[in-house]
Amino acid sequence: MGNHSDGGPNDSGTVATAGQNEVEKFQDPGIPPHRLRLADTDPKAAKKAERQVALLFGISVVGTLIFLVAYFAIDLGDDSTIATIRLQNALLGLGTAFAMLGIGTGIVHWAKALMPDHEVSEERHAIRTEEDRQAAVRIVDDIVEETGIKRRPLIRNTLLGAVALAPLPALAIFGDLGPRPDDTLAHTMWAPQDGKLKRLARDPDGTPIKAADVTLGSAFHVIPEGLNELSEGKLNEKAKSVVLLMRLNPEELHPSPGREDWAYNGIVAYSKICTHVGCPVALYEQQTHHLLCPCHQSTFDLTQQCKVIFGPASRPLPQLPISVDSEGYLVATSDFHEPVGPTYWEREQHVLIPNS
Ligand code: FES
Repeated sequence: MGNHSDGGPNDSGTVATAGQNEVEKFQDPGIPPHRLRLADTDPKAAKKAERQVALLFGISVVGTLIFLVAYFAIDLGDDSTIATIRLQNALLGLGTAFAMLGIGTGIVHWAKALMPDHEVSEERHAIRTEEDRQAAVRIVDDIVEETGIKRRPLIRNTLLGAVALAPLPALAIFGDLGPRPDDTLAHTMWAPQDGKLKRLARDPDGTPIKAADVTLGSAFHVIPEGLNELSEGKLNEKAKSVVLLMRLNPEELHPSPGREDWAYNGIVAYSKICTHVGCPVALYEQQTHHLLCPCHQSTFDLTQQCKVIFGPASRPLPQLPISVDSEGYLVATSDFHEPVGPTYWEREQHVLIPNS
């Protein structure tokens, strides 16, 4: 609406002069003529549309149940396989999709096919008086009445069922906040077994790596030798042990006290699990000696013991102490000296040598 009292043009194209209080109103706000839909004139069509809406809400209920069954019935214990995890992920995704789409499409179909579709217009004005407030309340009551929710118990009941069940998946997945990790992240397969040091092997084929194979500027994705012989179920063990191996000029490394012998001839190994939320740190920038996490761009500087120089991670990547055995193969001289992965409440209790 134009401001007519300031002498500007009003909506009908005429100009109101100062002191002129009466303004012309829209006689025709441009609303097209109302066209009746099939469900407005044919009770059978209305009933059919009502059943379709109820069916869509029913699909939402089924989707929620699929989610809950997949979440609780599929056991993802230590011995679960990748196939089991994929199956559960697929069912969780399908269940969520059906649950949300069912409610959404049901409401849209209900509104388009059954709810009144008369367009109305009114003058815009400030809501200040008690009468205005009560008029607004009456409009809301009218809208509820016009939706037909009171007259159509089938729609009402299926909608209530779908809406009541829809939040359950969100509540259920709170279960994934536990159990607490305690010291499970503080121990990995790199710990020597019966005094035997673990060799560093290529990921994924598992062949051990000789120090002579690691040329200046090269980078290797590494797993502990023997990891591939583990049963498929030991996914957690595998996930904790992945490491990145790089070779720099020894002069470029600046080990802090206590870490002087954690590298071999400029070869260093660091956990590949980002300390932000655990994505694999997979990119090595050879010129700058930076490691980059692709998830949220945390950047770690190899020359400063993988200190965070950019991004949301708050801790350096844990370093794996390495050396060579009598045959020249790279070995881990101990496990990590701190838990790998993101921060958790009890983590500090398990840090043996803090970063300095
Ligand atoms: S998980 Fe690496 S930056 Fe977020």
